[in-house]
Amino acid sequence: MKWKNIALLASFAVFLFFACRDNTGSGEKTARQEPSALTPEEQEAYLKKGAEITGTTFVALSGALREALQQEGVAGAVKYCNLAAYPLVDSLSRVYDADIRRTSLRVRNPKDKPSEAELAVLKAYHANREAGAPLLPGVELTGSSAVTFYAPILIQEACLQCHGKLGETLLEEDYAVIRELYPGDEATGYQAGDLRGMWSVTFRR
Ligand code: HEC
Repeated sequence: MKWKNIALLASFAVFLFFACRDNTGSGEKTARQEPSALTPEEQEAYLKKGAEITGTTFVALSGALREALQQEGVAGAVKYCNLAAYPLVDSLSRVYDADIRRTSLRVRNPKDKPSEAELAVLKAYHANREAGAPLLPGVELTGSSAVTFYAPILIQEACLQCHGKLGETLLEEDYAVIRELYPGDEATGYQAGDLRGMWSVTFRR
């Protein structure tokens, strides 16, 4: 009963977080017009579009990865990811006319580092995770003519061979290849079910 209440409160907090964020940043008065808020219909449409795009991108990425893993093992697949993940996501971005990103508090590719707005959402997701609250997708206005869709990314068993605990699920010899390509890598030490990061898909409005 108590937990249920906490979960409810926390998901309401996420809702407020998305609904009430001040997108002008500092709150300074400027001559620029405030972007008008999203209508409930727009919210629903962007949530649907975002879920469709991230679903398709996930299937494309994991399909390509599975094939590379089967043919070349972890070390080969890592090299494949290094070459192909970005072009693949880029071309889907063009297909959908949206900027598709994956980001995290602990990134492997420095290009995936979160923006200030993404950082705030990531922190909210982590706080919710700790409180045992559901992690809901959300949309918010980002700037005067853009809308961003966010959704959490969780770690599954299949991810551990590249993002797991070093010397346990992530083999030393595989990690040597990862470090060679990503010297500043922070994206290891995860267990199945952990919050890895999130999708961030930006549309022009
Ligand atoms: C074969 C190794 C491999 C597997 C398996 C793998 N990843 Fe990754 N992951 C990578 C590499 C390499 C990158 C960096 C890709 C790039 O340079 O764009 C990456 C990047 C990411 C990113 C982007 C953020 C960042 O840190 O740069 C996320 C999110 C992510 N992986 C989540 C997952 C999830 C979730 C799974 C399981 C469903 C998974 N990965 C499985 C190797 C792997």
